[in-house]
Amino acid sequence: MAYTYINKRLHCDGVDLEDVAEKYGTPTYIYSERILRRNAEVLKKIFIDRGFKVSYAMKANSNPMILKLFKSYGFGVDIVSEGEFKLAQHCGFEGLELNFAGVGKTIEELDLALDFDIDHFNVESRFELELLETRAKIAGKKAAVLLRLNPDIDPQTHPHISTGLKQNKFGMSPEKVRHFLTHAESYPHIQFDGIHCHIGSQIVQPQPFYDLIDYLEQFTSSLRASGVEFSHIDLGGGFGVNYEDPFEDILQTTPFLESIADRAMEKLGEYQLHIQPGRVLVANAGVLLARVLGNKENGGHHFVIIDGATTDLVRPAMYDAYHAIYSHLEDRPMHMGDVVGPVCESSDALARNREIPDFDKDDLMIIGSAGAYASSMGSTYNMRPLSPEVMVGLSGETHLLRKRQSFDEMISLYT
Ligand SMILES: Cc1ncc(COP(=O)(O)O)c(C=O)c1O
Repeated sequence: MAYTYINKRLHCDGVDLEDVAEKYGTPTYIYSERILRRNAEVLKKIFIDRGFKVSYAMKANSNPMILKLFKSYGFGVDIVSEGEFKLAQHCGFEGLELNFAGVGKTIEELDLALDFDIDHFNVESRFELELLETRAKIAGKKAAVLLRLNPDIDPQTHPHISTGLKQNKFGMSPEKVRHFLTHAESYPHIQFDGIHCHIGSQIVQPQPFYDLIDYLEQFTSSLRASGVEFSHIDLGGGFGVNYEDPFEDILQTTPFLESIADRAMEKLGEYQLHIQPGRVLVANAGVLLARVLGNKENGGHHFVIIDGATTDLVRPAMYDAYHAIYSHLEDRPMHMGDVVGPVCESSDALARNREIPDFDKDDLMIIGSAGAYASSMGSTYNMRPLSPEVMVGLSGETHLLRKRQSFDEMISLYT
């Protein structure tokens, strides 16, 4: 069922979105439990059933209900900060279900993760490796490490979400990775378990993944020839979704994911393989509900002004990202225009120069693909409170997963 028009009104799993908007106010994020479960089942079947370890990259959406739901499918979590570490603990994840990625980790973060005996640290630089060696020695532990390799592969995606090109800040050159692996004895408190890569996000073609897998096949065999052996390879995340049609079922993505899983098994099957998907698990499960405040014309340009803003969904401003715009009422006439929020920035736009449905004041607007990198990238700029998150459950009941932040909560942080 998912998101469909019933009697010309947009519903989520049988629930009229206008009823949700009236109950919880706007702007509000809505998630479909049915779609989240479906996405998890499909990834479990494609990857876990082929022997991969799957760690959900919680930066995509860190709502605890979603984390616990994915945990129940056997997924671990990929974390990048002390806050994400604490949230994973709060949600009941064990140390062995955590891998700690990120280009810079503090002493406090390393110590917390060492103490919790996490599965892996993904290490991206010499300074981090040396710091981890020191902290592990003090803790009397051996830290399990995957070295993050920057393979200089073009993921053919937006430059701001490309991470595997040599000019990006992420990872280390193959020469550096080789150096550390061949000098493992210099780091007695590090256990070099293997290699990690994450070449970028929103990758919709299989070729960059094939290139990565082929590259790793060659790199690992040349390391083997020098007598370097290890057991784990993490291919990262980055599986793209269809932003043009956010209500597309994950089944459309299945052949793409299967082809990557098959190629990885064929070429790197002797390693314990890992992936860290984020977006593909959550993007199409969510929408953002916003209320239209009014319409205006400026210089021959039409603007629809809504109560949602880049503080709720920053991707269009940050990456020029496309998010589909729907009216709650079906079959509205279409015309050119921009959808903008009330934030005091010209970049505060959710759609620009697009064919959008006709909206009147007080109409409900639904913005697609808001399950990933929307609430988790939310901000309080202009003293706008963080918006609530609501889940539509399997039997059509709604659950408030996160309250709207109150102004008292915001003001109470000031001393
Ligand atoms: C190291 C790492 N792993 C996984 C992900 C998840 O990427 P995606 O949501 O595109 O699957 C990211 C995203 O930035 C990342 O940096």
